[in-house]
Amino acid sequence: MRGVTQVLVLCTVMVAIQAAMIESNIPLPDENAWWGPGEAKEVDTSIRSFKVRFQKKMIKDLRYRLKNHRPFTTPLIDSGFNYGFNSATLEDWASYWSNSYNFTERESYLNLYPHFKTNIQGLDIHFIRVRPVVPEGVPVFPILMLHGWPSTPLEFYKVIPLLSEYSEERDFALELIIPSLPGFGFSDATSKQGLGATEMSVIFRNLMHRLGFEKFYIHGGDWGAYICYSLASLFPDEVIGYFTNYGISLSPASWITWFLGSLGEGAQNLVVQKELAGRLYPATTLLKELMIKTGYLHIQATKPDTIGVGMGDSPIGLLAYILQFVSMAVRNANIDKEDGGLLDHYSRDELLDNLMIYWSQNNFNTACRIYAETLNMRNVNNGWFSLNTPVPVSLIQADNELLYMSTPMLQHIYTNIVQNKAIEGAGHFLASEVPEVFSKALLESIDLFRDWHRKNACKEEL
Ligand SMILES: *[C@@H]1O[C@H](CO)[C@@H](O)[C@H](O)[C@H]1NC(C)=O
Repeated sequence: MRGVTQVLVLCTVMVAIQAAMIESNIPLPDENAWWGPGEAKEVDTSIRSFKVRFQKKMIKDLRYRLKNHRPFTTPLIDSGFNYGFNSATLEDWASYWSNSYNFTERESYLNLYPHFKTNIQGLDIHFIRVRPVVPEGVPVFPILMLHGWPSTPLEFYKVIPLLSEYSEERDFALELIIPSLPGFGFSDATSKQGLGATEMSVIFRNLMHRLGFEKFYIHGGDWGAYICYSLASLFPDEVIGYFTNYGISLSPASWITWFLGSLGEGAQNLVVQKELAGRLYPATTLLKELMIKTGYLHIQATKPDTIGVGMGDSPIGLLAYILQFVSMAVRNANIDKEDGGLLDHYSRDELLDNLMIYWSQNNFNTACRIYAETLNMRNVNNGWFSLNTPVPVSLIQADNELLYMSTPMLQHIYTNIVQNKAIEGAGHFLASEVPEVFSKALLESIDLFRDWHRKNACKEEL
């Protein structure tokens, strides 16, 4: 009997929340907002070719700082990464970065794919664009792919060939557009307040229009996932499908659903499949884990400019901060390892390539501001966490991801989930950790989106 009551309460609350959301009047962000310096003005709207360059002066200064760091604090005995980055391996990192990392070779690697910049709303936005070579008659679909924090477009390097090379097994090919988020990578940062993830979705939609795409697919992980969520919600007619490896919903309705699932077994079975329940419950365990993992998020959401000072000044400090996050986000078990398990999943070079972008561009600080500019009352008051979208959404969620979201939690924001696949043995940076798994799931999702549209077109005709 108790189970039935819980189910009824759960259903009533979910229906009430949905109704409240439909009635709310959600303001759209300004599609022409000017994020450049000073007042809005006419700008060059051409698309310019761009190459990554590591300046000699920057390298010399970086090496000096790596060699002249002060002594590291001795780690506590057997503490692994439980207190943060364990200093036992820091000297190896500093020495590799300054003595063995081949700046010339890595610079060429970064330039493996064609880079561009174009000015959108006052900011130079950087992107990689890879076009497939296809036989005549094969349609090419554009896909916008967005990274998050602490990533850069490099996160997608290993999947670029897997996704963009035409295969006879498919009756379509993909053209990839992979930008740096504003304030990240090689894109400009703004000097004005208010450029959060929702506003960034407008910038990327404008970028796609600039490139001549009126309708396109999207993919995002981490903050990229949140930006894609905004894009699909604000411009549902332009997004033909959204694939993500991060099922994030900040909508209160999703979290109330999660909470109700903690009230008893009957309710829990409605929220999550039995075999995945361990990813969400017990609720207290999930909350405890989130508390332990998300300290970085709180400081970046409130005082990014404080943490930015040290990270902009010390390359080894930057390394410790970012790689500790990577260690945690890749595998839960890494927290007990003295080396953070970093080299079990990635080479030193590829981890340093990503750091090189943050260091050489000196934009750790501006990248962190996305937290402060999104996780705030403006977004709450505008209802931007509770937008929903009819765009078909396909998810693949790894067991070591920071957060798992079940379909009933996500349905408050995604009304057409075509797939929500759970996978084992991978973490937060799916595209760089398991490029084959990621690419296969993305390509399969394109087929699912096309099927969905075919079926829906039939419905409309009826
Ligand atoms: C660095 O890489 C470049 C290009 O691959 C190569 O010519 C050079 O010898 C390398 N330098 C060292 C010190 O290995």
